[in-house]
Amino acid sequence: MASTVIKGGTVVTADLSYEADVLVEGGVITAIGAGLTGDTVLDASGCYIIPGGIDPHTHLEMPFMGTYSADDFESGTRAALAGGTTMVVDFVLPGQGQGLMDAAQMWHNKSGRANCDYSYHMAITWWGEKVWEGMEDSVKAGITSFKHFMAYKGALMVNDDELFASFRRVGDLGGLAMVHAENGDVVAELTAKLLAEGNSGPEAHAYSRPPQVEGEATNRAIMIADMAGVPLYVVHTSCEEAHEAIRRARQAGKRVWGEPLIQHLTLDESEYFNPDWDHAARRVMSPPFRNKAHQASLWAGLQAGSLSCVATDHCAFTTEQKRFGVGDFSKIPNGTGGLEDRLPMLWTHGVNTGRLTPNEFVAVTSTNIAKILNLYPKKGAVLVGADADLVVWDPAKEKVISAGSQQSSIDYNVFEGQAVKGLPRFTLSRGKVVVHDGEMRTEEGHGQFVGRAPRPAVNRALSAWKELTAPRPVQRSGVPATGV
Ligand code: URP
Ligand code: ZN
Ligand code: ZN
Ligand code: ZN
Repeated sequence: MASTVIKGGTVVTADLSYEADVLVEGGVITAIGAGLTGDTVLDASGCYIIPGGIDPHTHLEMPFMGTYSADDFESGTRAALAGGTTMVVDFVLPGQGQGLMDAAQMWHNKSGRANCDYSYHMAITWWGEKVWEGMEDSVKAGITSFKHFMAYKGALMVNDDELFASFRRVGDLGGLAMVHAENGDVVAELTAKLLAEGNSGPEAHAYSRPPQVEGEATNRAIMIADMAGVPLYVVHTSCEEAHEAIRRARQAGKRVWGEPLIQHLTLDESEYFNPDWDHAARRVMSPPFRNKAHQASLWAGLQAGSLSCVATDHCAFTTEQKRFGVGDFSKIPNGTGGLEDRLPMLWTHGVNTGRLTPNEFVAVTSTNIAKILNLYPKKGAVLVGADADLVVWDPAKEKVISAGSQQSSIDYNVFEGQAVKGLPRFTLSRGKVVVHDGEMRTEEGHGQFVGRAPRPAVNRALSAWKELTAPRPVQRSGVPATGV
């Protein structure tokens, strides 16, 4: 069997940094130590050997707001690998009335082109017997996390009764509940008001979704999850109000995780006040970019551990698609790109500034989510037996981000002109060198689906809900007393 040895680098994991060679055979790590030899030698001198990034939040070729997100599993995973991300977790989005496994099959049909490994979350976009049944099939098929949209009223939004029912089902199945936390009713009201008052430009998108709508929904989701006895992962946490709710829940012993995006960490709301309509519209996403105080809160959360994973929510639309919303901001397809830039931007603004250690960088880009999603140690680890999804990370390598040289198929980049320092020298996907110094050697279809096992014991044991369900006095009506 052909072997590859990565020599002369420093292994950096979420726990440790140490000098060692890493031997790769058959797609997995077979030895870590000094003086290893192999058929192919990759020079890692001056570099860190880190577990490849895992992006837990992508939307590739997703039908959304009257169109499809522009990056598919081929271009999206190529962009991921170029930037040191070796696995993506994409959202299966069933249509109204569609069965979950039907939708999963549609995703499998698209993901056959992936260049790197991938997994799925299942979105709960409507509620009924068929969904309830399908959730068990989903778990059996290795799709154990379920995302709920509390926003996008009239389209994807689920109401509280549905949320509670679905969360309980997820808990019973040993899965992970996830939420897009924005109060969709309030967003709809604010959107209608802004449009009626003649505010139709992209900046009104931000006004329609203030931090309060996110803070309220995050609190609500946490409380509903607690009553349902299910762990909760809050996607794209963008503001202090939501972060505060997550912090407080964690402090109370609840299994709640928050996921800031690289865009919210590095770009602020002034982007929406750019007089160039295209510039502003290209940055329209939900939740919107916030002010610098919210950014500081997110960075503090990463440092303190109250926020756990940095993602992209990669949902890229071309300028032409964004222009569907000329004259009505609510028709601008929501979403931004970032797959290729997540690691270099986080290294530049996190590690190079001293906010994060290299070990913390590995934790928030790979290891933490691998543990939360039950992918660890197959993914997210530099350990013997782990998949050789590795990045030889060169902290001295620099570039200026530009749409002209990106892998994504859209015509712009929200980080255009930003200088980054810290880039992959080599990216390996299950042992295969797919990127060498910016040169792409990806192989369409090399990526494989990674199923995940449920964790019922972890769910039940770790929710504070257990204590709240201890036997209580029974009211005369025969109904257990509520309140504590
Ligand atoms: O604006 C966003 N975030 N678009 C993608 C879909 C979602 O809400 O995550
Ligand atoms: Zn979302
Ligand atoms: Zn998303
Ligand atoms: Zn292959």
